[in-house]
Amino acid sequence: MSNCFTMILMKIVSVLLSFVLLGIGASGNNELLVIDYYKETCPLAEEIIRYQVEAAVVKDPRMAASLLRLHFHDCFVMGCDASVLLDSDGDMISEKQAGPNVNSLRGFEVIDKIKYYLEEACPLTVSCADVLAIAARDAVVSRGGPSWKVPLGRKDSLKASFDGANQFIPAPNSSLETLIANFKQQGLSIGDLVALSGSHTMGKARCLSFRQRVHDVNTEEYYDKYKRYTTFRRILRSICPRSGKDFQLAPLDFNTPARFDNHYFLNILQGRGLLLSDNVLVSEDHEGEILKQVWAYASNQDLFFASFVESMINMGNILGDNEGEIRKNCRFVNN
Ligand code: HEM
Ligand SMILES: *[C@@H]1O[C@H](CO)[C@@H](O)[C@H](O)[C@H]1NC(C)=O
Repeated sequence: MSNCFTMILMKIVSVLLSFVLLGIGASGNNELLVIDYYKETCPLAEEIIRYQVEAAVVKDPRMAASLLRLHFHDCFVMGCDASVLLDSDGDMISEKQAGPNVNSLRGFEVIDKIKYYLEEACPLTVSCADVLAIAARDAVVSRGGPSWKVPLGRKDSLKASFDGANQFIPAPNSSLETLIANFKQQGLSIGDLVALSGSHTMGKARCLSFRQRVHDVNTEEYYDKYKRYTTFRRILRSICPRSGKDFQLAPLDFNTPARFDNHYFLNILQGRGLLLSDNVLVSEDHEGEILKQVWAYASNQDLFFASFVESMINMGNILGDNEGEIRKNCRFVNN
């Protein structure tokens, strides 16, 4: 009798458990992302993406940085919904045309290629938004960064927001206060801001993005406080003159430009962040809380990696209504 009761109880527990594991426990609009979301419907999905990211990074090492940034610029506009991938169409202006993105965002062809192979393997199954999230993770891994399991199950948006991209993606000359407010608007904390800024351990920026930092008189006082910066600033000025050479590139991390490591934090402690938005984390942190975090990451890479993973998952969890579709072509809504 009690045996039978135990069996029924176990059955109930196992059914409940499988609901949770399969993600059926998520509400109708899929608010809850889950690990291994495509395990049944597209078991090769993550393998396909990883292979293509690795191939793209071998061909062009900077692509790792570009793919990571693509996920960020997606998530900050209406949530992680691949809105950033839509091309202009009719009345809708692409986010690609917005100030922070135009002539700057890269990696769209890599995503197209990944999506092509995914459609071959399992049509209309894997969302472009999930591709961006997985590719960002694989990009980090490819340059020596940490790995993690990516929560999945995002939907692709039915529209882009040009205005949103201009409004929500932070500018490189933002004050610390603005950066904090900007992240808060997305539900992200100061801790997330600091950890995610560590992404600037790889990749490049155009002269346009750091000209103010090397020429603007308002910033001179800060840099002159440290003699060592003069050489650094002289180098930057040779790359990025007062006018012209807008598209000349400089590495965000002069120390180890191609590695995903904690050198970003060592750099900003020395005032050697490339962007104003990097340096303000230290220079405008009057409470000293951020400085503590920066020191901790600079002296302990494992700690940075652990925080970075946590914050990437937080960023990846930004969802809008998540009531879109699975696009066939990441550049266009279906029909
Ligand atoms: C905190 C606010 C942030 C600001 C103001 C900012 C700004 C910028 C700017 C201006 C560039 C150079 C773009 C160009 O000149 O073409 C850049 C590059 C980059 N950003 Fe950020 N960013 C921020 C946060 C983030 C976050 C959260 C991530 C990732 C999670 C990220 C990842 C990257 C990467 C990897 C690059 C290099 C891209 C490449 O080489 O193609 N950034 N960022
Ligand atoms: C930031 O840069 C933009 C564009 O270059 C400029 O219009 C704006 O005044 C700058 N903001 C600050 C706070 O310097």
